[in-house]
This record gives sequence, C-alpha cells and structure tokens, in this order.
Amino acid sequence: MVMITLSLLTTPSSSATDSFVFGGCSQLKYAQGSPYENNVNSLLASLVNSAMLNTYNNFTFPGTTSQETLYGLYQCRGDLSSADCGRCVARAVSQLGTLCLDSCGGALQLEGCFVKYDNISFLGVEDKTVVVKKCGPLTAFDSDGLIRRDAVLGYLGSGDGSYKTYRVGGSGNINGVAQCVGDLSASECQDCLSEAIGRLKTDCGAAKWGDVYLAKCYARYSAGGDHSHGGHGKRLRHLGWCFLVFGLI
Ligand SMILES: *[C@@H]1O[C@H](CO)[C@@H](O)[C@H](O)[C@H]1NC(C)=O
Ligand SMILES: *[C@@H]1O[C@H](CO)[C@@H](O)[C@H](O)[C@H]1NC(C)=O
Repeated sequence: MVMITLSLLTTPSSSATDSFVFGGCSQLKYAQGSPYENNVNSLLASLVNSAMLNTYNNFTFPGTTSQETLYGLYQCRGDLSSADCGRCVARAVSQLGTLCLDSCGGALQLEGCFVKYDNISFLGVEDKTVVVKKCGPLTAFDSDGLIRRDAVLGYLGSGDGSYKTYRVGGSGNINGVAQCVGDLSASECQDCLSEAIGRLKTDCGAAKWGDVYLAKCYARYSAGGDHSHGGHGKRLRHLGWCFLVFGLI
C-alpha cells in the first residue's frame, strides 16, 4: 500500500524561464516596409507591454485588408510574477524577430512563456498538434515510483475541479506541471491537457522525465528534478509552418 501525497510545489527557479523550447514561423513572408510589418511590430510591442501586467492577453489588429488582420497572444507560466512574465515575453518577442524575420506568422515557446502571432485567426481555437515530445532515459522506477508518477499526472489532468490554466503537483521526488494557453475554454483546456498527459503516459512510459507540448497546452513531469535542456535542434514542417525544436527525440 503506497501513500500518495500531492503537494503544491515551491516556485521553480526563474533561471529556467528563458530556456528555448521551440519556435515556428509561417513560410509566407511579408514585404519589408509594408503596413503589415508595422502592424507586426505594434502587435509585438503590445504583447510585451501587457505582459508586465497580466499573465495572459490577446490582441487583434485590423490591417488595411481583412487578410492582413493580425492576431496575437502570449501566455506566461502561471507561477511567474508580472515582472518575470514581462521579461520572458520581451525575450521571446526579441527571439521571434530573429527566428521569424519577415514571416507573416510566428510562435515561440520559452520555458516561462509562449508568444504567437498570425494573420489567420487562431484565438480561441483549440489545437492539439504535437509540437514537442521528449522523453528522458528509461529509469528503474519501482512500482511505487510509477504509481507516484501516474498520481501526479492524474492530478495535473483533473486539477482540484476548478478551472485552472496552470497546474503543478508533486509526490515524493516526482514533480509535474501543466499549462494551457488562456484563450481556451475550461473544457478545451481540459481536453488539451488530457491529450498531452495521455501521450506522456503512453509515449514516455517509464522515462525519468517527459515533456509534451501541444500547440495550445503542455504537460511535463520529472523524477528528481532532471530535465531536458538544450540538445540538438531539429526542423519539422507542419501546415505551411517550419518549426525549430531543441532536443527533439
Ligand atoms: C495572410 O494570410 C493569407 C492567407 O489567408 C495570405 O495569403 C496572405 O498573403 C497573408 N499575409 C499578408 C501579409 O497578408
Ligand atoms: C481576448 O481579449 C479580450 C480583451 O482582453 C477578452 O475579452 C477576450 O475574451 C479574449 N479572447 C480570447 C479568445 O481569449
């Protein structure tokens, strides 16, 4: 008989908030010096300003034609202070400017925050595309370890019943964290997290840690604090976008 205790964790160190997880750019480009470029710059500046006040926000900027209407949002990890959220989004936006130079749409996930803009509305649209799936080395989990891991994932999947976009839990040396992008409804967030957590269980099996990032939510767990960092970059293409993912397995 194993006693499973789940607890709220203390805040993870903020040094991890800057780590690059993935970035993606639409292959469509806009013309330099165009009104579209001004719109992208204004939108990204609005995201950075807003992130100093709120952990989530979205913006819609009308363009000169309806095709050029620009949509954008950011989501900080739920435990970040507004100062850390602002710093994280500023960093993500600056990296987006380099990675997605002149791209009509771009998305970037750092450990602490997610930023996305595009001229095709994605606001409030659930998207369970798998962007990153990484599993650590198989470990000698004893049966208690696996039970704890599954209990942590179960907790992340159900929360405490109330609607929370950010969930964190732990049991023994197993920690887990889950986050939805704030434009999802409660049921969409639940559905997205169920999918991410299901994949962690089936695809990572008894791995020491696992990360699954879907387009609108992610779930991660780790035994003993080990985690993926850096690694080799890989490119993948999806729906006219090109993604760069570090440490993809
Ligand atoms: C925005 O989206 C459409 C696809 O609907 C694309 O053809 C268009 O050229 C895009 N970019 C701009 C700058 O309008
Ligand atoms: C976008 O932001 C507006 C204003 O802050 C808010 O009322 C709306 O619910 C948001 N939409 C989504 C899809 O998050």
